[in-house]
Amino acid sequence: MNHQSPNAGADPHPRQVERYIESLLIPSDPALTAAVQAADQAGLPAIAVSPAQGKLLMLLAMAVQARSILELGTLAGFSTIWLARAAAAHNGRVTTLEAEPKHAAVARSNIERAGLAKHVRIVEGPALDTLPKLATDGSAPFDLIFIDADKENYPAYLDWAIRLGRSGTLVIADNVVREGQVVNDASTDSRVIGARKFNQALADDPRIDGTIIQMVGAKEWDGMAFGVVR
Ligand code: SAH
Ligand code: DHB
Ligand code: MG
Repeated sequence: MNHQSPNAGADPHPRQVERYIESLLIPSDPALTAAVQAADQAGLPAIAVSPAQGKLLMLLAMAVQARSILELGTLAGFSTIWLARAAAAHNGRVTTLEAEPKHAAVARSNIERAGLAKHVRIVEGPALDTLPKLATDGSAPFDLIFIDADKENYPAYLDWAIRLGRSGTLVIADNVVREGQVVNDASTDSRVIGARKFNQALADDPRIDGTIIQMVGAKEWDGMAFGVVR
């Protein structure tokens, strides 16, 4: 297959490159295709991580041999399925937090269809209400924590992630670039403000060391933060 056509060399677009990456490295996947379809049919927003990003999450979870994974923001379970595939390899589990019962229901069905029900626990309710219990019920420490819920609470989620982790825990946060608006210190967008505070805390907090990678291609220009608890 010629992945370069119809625009070979001249002025490739990030979306063309994304299709190239997906065609090379992300084989068609019935469980994930069905999950996206079910999400669309239920009217959920199309804001899941991209296939290449989902696979990155799986590979990172495999690299750190994560058995215990925490996700904030389930939506339809797309990123959850990628993470759960890695957890399943170590007979582990993803705990995923979701505020919207309708999202949780779609996710539950998607995860079941993917054959991963026994490797995923969906906890319904606003994350700030459900996180405290994870500190005391034996769930912690988590090996990997993926933050992808409401951006306004990202600073609080970073603090929780560190407290629910251990030395070496990998913390990943989606949507910390926001089409570049994170450099705008006058932004009034509460999601940008949340991301800016998160990024500042990642830089300042002595308990974690991190970096941020910008991403283009499948979604809007955005990026993910990666940190390791000291
Ligand atoms: N991680 C998903 C996408 C998550 S979208 C994926 O990549 O497939 C963000 C999700 O966070 C939405 O489902 C939204 O309902 C949920 N959310 C928003 N506020 C929340 C809160 N306070 N606690 C838990 N989940 C929340
Ligand atoms: C939004 C949320 C996300 O998690 C994402 O990856 C993209 C967009 C949003 O709320 O707009
Ligand atoms: Mg996101």
